[in-house]
Amino acid sequence: MLISSGFSLQDVLQTGLPLVGSDVARHWDMLYHFLTWLSIVFFIIVVGAMIYFAVVYRKGRAGNTKYITHNHALEAFWTVIPTILLLVIFTWGWFLYKDMVTAPSSAMEVKVIGKQWNWTFQYPDGRVSQDLYAPIGQPVKMLMTSEDVLHSFFIPNFRIKQDVVPGMYTSVWFEATVPGKHQIYCAEYCGGTHSQMLAQVVVLSHEQWAAWQRGKDIGNIGRAGGEVSIAKVESKAVASLVDQGKALMQSKGCIACHSDDGTNKIGPSHKGVYGSKIEMADGSVVEADENYIRESIEKPNAKIVKGYNPVMPTYQGQFSALELNAVVEYIKSLR
Ligand code: CUA
Repeated sequence: MLISSGFSLQDVLQTGLPLVGSDVARHWDMLYHFLTWLSIVFFIIVVGAMIYFAVVYRKGRAGNTKYITHNHALEAFWTVIPTILLLVIFTWGWFLYKDMVTAPSSAMEVKVIGKQWNWTFQYPDGRVSQDLYAPIGQPVKMLMTSEDVLHSFFIPNFRIKQDVVPGMYTSVWFEATVPGKHQIYCAEYCGGTHSQMLAQVVVLSHEQWAAWQRGKDIGNIGRAGGEVSIAKVESKAVASLVDQGKALMQSKGCIACHSDDGTNKIGPSHKGVYGSKIEMADGSVVEADENYIRESIEKPNAKIVKGYNPVMPTYQGQFSALELNAVVEYIKSLR
């Protein structure tokens, strides 16, 4: 019956999993199916042998079995084979996980802010939206934080999920392969309306993406499942994220103590900080990533750069999450 109704191994293998919307999803599914089929094969071997022995050697049929103490060959066989299989699963999973957490350096970065109970997306051009807009076939990295409690950013079609944590940045990335809308969930219980903490990824063709960036409406966007709706431009960009950050550093007085051209003032210059290794007063070396920059703004005395004094007051609460993202982006731009 299956054969006449267009049997495809692919369909059977896909049963029960969401649409494959990213490259990682395809690889993830292969490992998932390998584990499933491996479990089925071993289930059949173990339960099959159990039933066979129970029937063949049932009481009163074959007389008493002789007393068996051990069998070296058999023991080696059932130790070595599962060990090899486990190492294969570990290696496969390790490479896949490494791929899932390491965004290519060419990735476009979108800031994600989780808050009870919605998602906000902030783009390099300074635009902000409530749904995530992304071009097809291009890596998109999300730098995520929460304004209140622990959330989890989950796109089932892309097989990616990552905690979104207050007070720090986490990241995850995808490269979409299917145009249209894909559902985003919050996957960590975060209060009364957790189940309504929803958004969509709107994957656009290159033409639609270009139109969206120019602030034009992009017409019909098919849902990956078939439903159609109109995608509207949600907000116009005021200034790029970098320019917003630069303006904020001026208005908050950061530039009184920190230069952006390498000149040392009361505090270290911001030039070349991001991505560099910095020696601290206690002799330790810290790699300056987004979390280091953020910590230096919110808890300036947590790490003191060698040669400077702990005189900076905390700026915790002085920036909204959107503003902090802009400031971090500005400092990152001074590479
Ligand atoms: Cu946010 Cu659950």
